[in-house]
Amino acid sequence: MSLQNFLSALDALQSEAIATLDAASDPEAFEAARVKYVGQKKGALKDIQKQMGGVAADDRKSAGMRLNEVKQAIEKAVAEAQSRLSGGGDSGVDPTFDPTLPGVRPTIGHIHPITQTITHLTEIMGRMGFEAAEGPEVEDPHHNFVALNIPEDHPARDPLDNFYLATAATGTEKQNIEGTRLLRSQTSTVQIRVMANRKPPVRVISLGRVYRPDDPDATHFPMFHQMEGLLVDTHVTMANLKTVLRVFATNYLGGDVEIRFRPSFFPFTEPSVEVDFLWDGNWIEFGGAGMVDPNVFRAVGYDPEEVSGFAFGLGVERLCMRRHGIKDIRDLYSGDMRFLSQF
Ligand code: DAH
Repeated sequence: MSLQNFLSALDALQSEAIATLDAASDPEAFEAARVKYVGQKKGALKDIQKQMGGVAADDRKSAGMRLNEVKQAIEKAVAEAQSRLSGGGDSGVDPTFDPTLPGVRPTIGHIHPITQTITHLTEIMGRMGFEAAEGPEVEDPHHNFVALNIPEDHPARDPLDNFYLATAATGTEKQNIEGTRLLRSQTSTVQIRVMANRKPPVRVISLGRVYRPDDPDATHFPMFHQMEGLLVDTHVTMANLKTVLRVFATNYLGGDVEIRFRPSFFPFTEPSVEVDFLWDGNWIEFGGAGMVDPNVFRAVGYDPEEVSGFAFGLGVERLCMRRHGIKDIRDLYSGDMRFLSQF
């Protein structure tokens, strides 16, 4: 075959194949055209490739080059027809999407370390018979102060030391007027809420957020968590309190933990103590405790001649930090996943 004839046969094949593929309007027509032109066995391209053997040896190079061009043009038309009939651009499939590339690992969240600590503490105290109770974070002065034997002129009620919610009144007036609300500054509020609603004996803990206008530093944050404990029964002693706290600390912090009571004062306990744990060779205060003050029992309608009890309040962040060796409370609330994902 002359080069001339071969090239015009190629041209004819190219225009016919492209026209047919472009005109294919359903998958059957497309498949028939595909087999007809680029089929591996009897396709027209394969056919014409064989005929190239009949072209003079000198002309084969240019014949081969043209054949390749035609082949590519037809294959392109096949691909276009295929994508057009399978929905083409409308299918939402990104043509640059490469399914063989490794995927993006989905990030799976996990429980915040403080929430994990709350679950753990609740579980340890539950084993000693303490049931979890809850109270609101927006409190009234009765539960946050009055029933806890904190008198009106006590510095703990100062507007500068509490988050009072907006009212018409300003300054010191605010803490006294009816309808005043504040973000609770301690979980001791729950002692009152529980005792006002049930008869002794009582054995509860309450874990939750408390708020104080402190400037954040390594050991302070304006929002933090406390674990409150309250046990009311007959003949409760301070030895019971110390035992419960020692068993608790041993369980949560490990067998090597040392605990110390220091005389102190809280309006709602008498006597009162500060509870210290040993941390890196130093005694660190983890909270307060004491025997429930008779005035608190009276405020909830209990008879202080009949019942006695102890109460304690511990800092949840401090416990979590001591257990995990965290040095700065702000790390817990920075939202920095490099820190949080370690827990
Ligand atoms: N409510 C106290 C505080 O936030 C801690 C506390 C001390 C709680 C003594 C108690 C207690 O139950 O008996 O500083």
